[in-house]
Amino acid sequence: MSLIHGGIPGPPLNIEGVSAGEPPAGIPGARLLFSLDPGVSYLNHGSLGAVPIGVQRAQQRLRDEIEGNPVKFHTQGLLDRIVHTRRHLATFLGADPDGSALIPNTTTAVSLVLQSVRLEPADEVLLTDHGYGAVALAARRRCRRDGATARTVALPLGAADGEIVSRIRAALRPSKTKLLIVDQITSATAAAFPVREIVAAARRHDIPVLVDAAHVPGMLPVDVGELGADFWVGNLHKWAFAPRGTALLAVAPAWRRRIEPLVVSWEQEQGFPLSVEFQGTLDYTPWLAAPTGLFTLRTLGWDTVRAHNAALAAYGQRVVGAALGLGPAELPRSGEPELAMRLVPLRSGLATTTPEAVELRQHISEKLAVETQVTAWGGRGFLRLSAQVYNRADEYDRLAERLPGLLSAWQR
Ligand SMILES: Cc1ncc(COP(=O)(O)O)c(C=O)c1O
Repeated sequence: MSLIHGGIPGPPLNIEGVSAGEPPAGIPGARLLFSLDPGVSYLNHGSLGAVPIGVQRAQQRLRDEIEGNPVKFHTQGLLDRIVHTRRHLATFLGADPDGSALIPNTTTAVSLVLQSVRLEPADEVLLTDHGYGAVALAARRRCRRDGATARTVALPLGAADGEIVSRIRAALRPSKTKLLIVDQITSATAAAFPVREIVAAARRHDIPVLVDAAHVPGMLPVDVGELGADFWVGNLHKWAFAPRGTALLAVAPAWRRRIEPLVVSWEQEQGFPLSVEFQGTLDYTPWLAAPTGLFTLRTLGWDTVRAHNAALAAYGQRVVGAALGLGPAELPRSGEPELAMRLVPLRSGLATTTPEAVELRQHISEKLAVETQVTAWGGRGFLRLSAQVYNRADEYDRLAERLPGLLSAWQR
């Protein structure tokens, strides 16, 4: 029985290869479910996901329906369809369907939450140094508006769960910290944080917590209700195969009446969640097609998908790390064996800033026809490798063969 961050005991997964050193067996036919360019090794599912063809078709059927009669689609039953979809997605995540809202993405949800929190000049929003850049920018802008402070707590890369919790606990200032924002799976450092324990530590001081779980839906099992966070947001357009523009924001009962949508629409008087979900004339087809993404996950077998992806990401990390001269002890731990994204540290001085990381990512893409993510964190550059059902072990082998030469020729 593995204990999943997020609190629920997950089913035992057979993550072959994580310790044995062998890549997992591929999932037959899985690559054919996607329309990815066959000439590219797509090892960066984590950034923007990839939408299965069946989900693309489901969305296109909805668009065809709209264009057959736009007024009918938007005025007869659209809200019911949104509510029905929300129930489906919230149930998958263990979130209360009446206390959750469909929302285009995590970025939007973070601004919405920040806007709903009251801040005085001496107050602060607490973040970690592993947080997503745009989330930190939103917190800083929100704080500036009321003369408050966005403060960052530093967490060493690869820190054990106990150290993460105790550093965050020590950074909380009960009378001043009005919101703690913490990632469940970090972006730049591909680490899982023990959010259940972090939420419990903050709750002891009545400090509200926003969990940025952008990468969680589809990658880890989660029981959002049981986590007890005040706010939790996850993207379904990354690992749950939904069309881009699909996320779910879950809000604890005490906050629901205080949530004000960023844009006032005809559903304003309905209150949360419909006031947040309905935002005028928009394309709602990503949400309505999202259940087909979950159907795809379940058809492939969600346990099989997670075990495959975690084992393949670990394999990729190991072979690419070995090619760069890094042994297992030099590869950052993810904090969770089920993660489908892993980091490989780059030599010191390489891609140490975000612009340099972007430049190197583009160079790898152009020269090797491999899509990866390159992140800069703590003055160090990292290659972030994702694994998804459409990937094969030989894609990581090929990257391992060619990357060292490319990096040694890379002068900046
Ligand atoms: C941890 C984290 N938070 C927030 C985001 C922003 O997500 P979106 O672009 O869907 O708003 C991302 C995107 O990768 C992320 O990794």
